[in-house]
Amino acid sequence: MSQQFASRPLVIAPSILAADFAKLGEEVRAVDAAGADWIHLDVMDGHFVPNISYGPDVIKAMRPHTKKIFDAHLMISPCDAYLEAFAKAGCDHITVHAEAGPHLHRSLQAIRALGKKAGVSLNPGTPASAIEYVIDLIDLVLVMSVNPGFGGQAFIKSALGKVSDIRAMTAGRPIDIEVDGGVAPEVAGQLAAAGANALVAGSAVFKGGTLEAYKTNISAIRNAAALARGEAI
Ligand code: DX5
Ligand code: ZN
Repeated sequence: MSQQFASRPLVIAPSILAADFAKLGEEVRAVDAAGADWIHLDVMDGHFVPNISYGPDVIKAMRPHTKKIFDAHLMISPCDAYLEAFAKAGCDHITVHAEAGPHLHRSLQAIRALGKKAGVSLNPGTPASAIEYVIDLIDLVLVMSVNPGFGGQAFIKSALGKVSDIRAMTAGRPIDIEVDGGVAPEVAGQLAAAGANALVAGSAVFKGGTLEAYKTNISAIRNAAALARGEAI
């Protein structure tokens, strides 16, 4: 099985949404030290999703606290007017939702033109086929396994079939398949077996609230996924 996944490394991406917002810099340093590969940044506008989180200025303030990849997940509509601000704030990946506006292709072109990796996120009700006509413009697909807007929700199992479909559609291309929402060690193996290589986790990483807890939590997710990929733990 390891052969099948060899091209895309396994990535664990803690979601800062579950961090203590009163000490963001410290939390970013802690998950970095605990073994995070990417830092997942959930941006919510109270319009595309029924919650408000943080924007480019807060991301800019977090940026000096780690060298790890900043993986921004924009749950905002419209998004085009803000892409440059997120790029300037230090985001390395900028992911927009397929449902966020009528011009997904244009948004992805704009992200690439800013020199950043472009991602498309799909809500649980959006089929895998939504990426078909933009596949040449994407570096990452973010499959939502909860309805976006809040951390701590239960994993929606239909995401597994969607991951398999996307793995087949993207075969042979350098595209990361990331899953977000309700990810815990219990589902990490199934997600890796279906073809996901990047796992976002908020509650499952930040529970416990200490560096030691974050290390244990990240390792548990990583080990479950690595086992399913046939990799040494
Ligand atoms: C939800 C966000 C997720 C969220 C995941 O809209 O996109 O990144 O923080 O949190 P958990 O892992 O708790 O489901
Ligand atoms: Zn997210």
